[in-house]
Amino acid sequence: SPLDDLQRLRDAEVKTREIIQKYQAAMREMMVRFEILDQDLNLKKHRNPIHHLESRIKKPASIFEKLERYGKEPTLENLERYIMDVAGVRVICSYIHDVYNLLELLQKQDDLEIVEIKDYINNPKLNGYRSLHVIVRIPVYFLDKKELIPVEVQLRTIAMDFWASLEHDLKYKSVSEVQGIDSYDELKDCSRIIEDVESRMQILARLLRGSVSIFRKRQADFPACLFLALVLEILREAGGLLVLANDGGALRLFDAHEEEVQVMDEHVSHHDHRHRRLGREQDVQHFGYRKAVSL
Ligand code: GTP
Ligand code: MG
Repeated sequence: SPLDDLQRLRDAEVKTREIIQKYQAAMREMMVRFEILDQDLNLKKHRNPIHHLESRIKKPASIFEKLERYGKEPTLENLERYIMDVAGVRVICSYIHDVYNLLELLQKQDDLEIVEIKDYINNPKLNGYRSLHVIVRIPVYFLDKKELIPVEVQLRTIAMDFWASLEHDLKYKSVSEVQGIDSYDELKDCSRIIEDVESRMQILARLLRGSVSIFRKRQADFPACLFLALVLEILREAGGLLVLANDGGALRLFDAHEEEVQVMDEHVSHHDHRHRRLGREQDVQHFGYRKAVSL
């Protein structure tokens, strides 16, 4: 009867609302956790790891599209079981090491369950997409129960966000090639260039903060931009492992994301060195490959 239909509709609406509300609650709690971490890092370490935060609840149309893609019936049960990104939080950081620092801090929160980590920063997607995706389950307290609710957290830098936002926008254009320019190749190349720029600015930030020191024989006559470009190239070759010698003769060891990892005694072999002709003699000591580059 029409009355029964109406009742069923009402029941469905209440159930749907209850579920959406749950994900909204989880999303807000997750936002607050990041806000607190940011505040605390600011207070105690004078850091500003989070540039800004974004959040969204997945639209019903995309939820159904995804369930269909997964070959599942479009039911509320399947939504809860299979869709891990109904609630989404995006954390936009200044530098790459902030991303990994926040991940570490999340891993230390003992009531958070880390379901999955996808590291598209160390392993970018083929199209050039870079971000760190973490599915967490966060406890939310309701009237009568506590529930662990999944939230998809995307951590990325401003540079990565810049690329992803524009790529997302362009992806939905109906043509992918115009006047002989393949947008896929072009976007991929842009991603690489952006990555270079951000690594360079990160090294510069460390230099200015004084957390990295670089030993240079002829500091005065060597242009800083060339030096940073070289450091960057070595960094990439070494798969993220970088050594810069400080003036005390000790080697300072870094990886691509962390601050200083380790300080070692100087020990760099000069086998297998390459010569570059950029004008001046300059040694950059490079632990990963035990290779020295002279300019
Ligand atoms: P989905 O079913 O699409 O969620 O695939 P998945 O579960 O393998 O997801 P993945 O973790 O790879 O990516 C999930 C989310 O990351 C997407 O919804 C986007 O927000 C973002 N994302 C992933 N790949 C890209 C990309 O190539 N470009 C952009 N702009 N965003 C991406
Ligand atoms: Mg996903």
